[in-house]
Amino acid sequence: MIRLDQVTKIYPDGTEAVNEVSLEVGEGELCVLLGPSGCGKTTTMKVINRIIPITKGKIYIDGTDTTKIDEDELRRNIGYAIQEIGLFPHMTVGQNIQVVPALKGWPKDKRSERAEELLELVGMNSAEFMNKYPSELSGGQRQRVGVARALGADPPILLMDEPFGAIDPITRVRLQDEFLKIEQEIKKTIIFVTHDIYEAIKMGDKIALMNEGRLVQYDTPSNLLFKPKNEFVEQFVGADRALKGLQLIRVKELMTGTPPLAKADERVVTVQARMEREGVDCLAVVDNEGKFLGWVDRVNVGKGETVRDIINRSVATATANAVLSEALSLMLSSGFKTLAIVDGINKLEGVLSFDAIQLALSEVAQRRGSE
Ligand SMILES: Nc1ncnc2c1ncn2[C@@H]1O[C@H](COP(=O)(O)OP(=O)(O)O)[C@@H](O)[C@H]1O
Ligand SMILES: [Mg+2]
Repeated sequence: MIRLDQVTKIYPDGTEAVNEVSLEVGEGELCVLLGPSGCGKTTTMKVINRIIPITKGKIYIDGTDTTKIDEDELRRNIGYAIQEIGLFPHMTVGQNIQVVPALKGWPKDKRSERAEELLELVGMNSAEFMNKYPSELSGGQRQRVGVARALGADPPILLMDEPFGAIDPITRVRLQDEFLKIEQEIKKTIIFVTHDIYEAIKMGDKIALMNEGRLVQYDTPSNLLFKPKNEFVEQFVGADRALKGLQLIRVKELMTGTPPLAKADERVVTVQARMEREGVDCLAVVDNEGKFLGWVDRVNVGKGETVRDIINRSVATATANAVLSEALSLMLSSGFKTLAIVDGINKLEGVLSFDAIQLALSEVAQRRGSE
């Protein structure tokens, strides 16, 4: 969807702000650009949007070189939310949100309908706020309107530069949570800038960690924490990265998405052979719709003919969005070392084993031991 190929930006004064950065963000993915102040995050966003010209390299959107796309057209297809620039002070909230739809020539009715819808989406009452001016809003409300404006014309791509930067910590967490919910509904390709490791791990499908204009590691949150590529990454994510991982990494990153399964009416000898073949001690049991029923455990195989006779139904489940610490605490309280991961209607999406968590954590311990 978005591909940077050896992108370099040298400012006229000679500052090398971005240095041969290559990375690819897939459709519907949320990529976080992370790194210390001055490492080149904002510059990277600006060259993608062509607010500033690139010095070397190429940027592709859906395979098209962006220098071949009309600049205005490009920007209308990219929603841009930035912390510093903010809203137009002389326009109402409603007018601010309608800026790009107006440029795109949407009819008035459609525009104002869209503005109402977006305000509600970011958790603001449209009747109350539509005709207010930015100066009449709190910092948190202004940032919400900023996000709504970026979403204005339903662009396929969103660039968000520290969108929750100026907000107090409590409101910030709420906005992050709301944005994650919105993101599941809107399914955009998003590049999200932050200098905050917690925010990065929470928001990102993938994280691009930058330092001094270079891309240091481009990876999933769990790999960044548990398999840091070098000392810079290790220091940046912090010495407590095992703990951060437990608090912040979501179950979906470590779960097995296609585990071996059993059906309730299968014979125990059949599933026993399957467990041996797969090298596991238990199998998740599902019905014909793929809904989770319980576990069949190797220790109980002598106690019945069919899986139904020996199934263990009284076990906890978690969702793929739960964090590892929640999963771990469910395992500990149920005394069962494997957790079924289910969706809203109890369909099995995967399984998470205690061993998978332990393995991730032991990599952290090993690295520390070898230092
Ligand atoms: N217009 C500019 N002219 C010269 N140098 C700049 C300009 N804008 C940013 N820089 C420099 O480029 C580097 C990267 O800046 P920036 O992309 O804003 O970093 P970040 O967003 O990660 O804090 C910094 O050293 C910054 O001082
Ligand atoms: Mg910046």
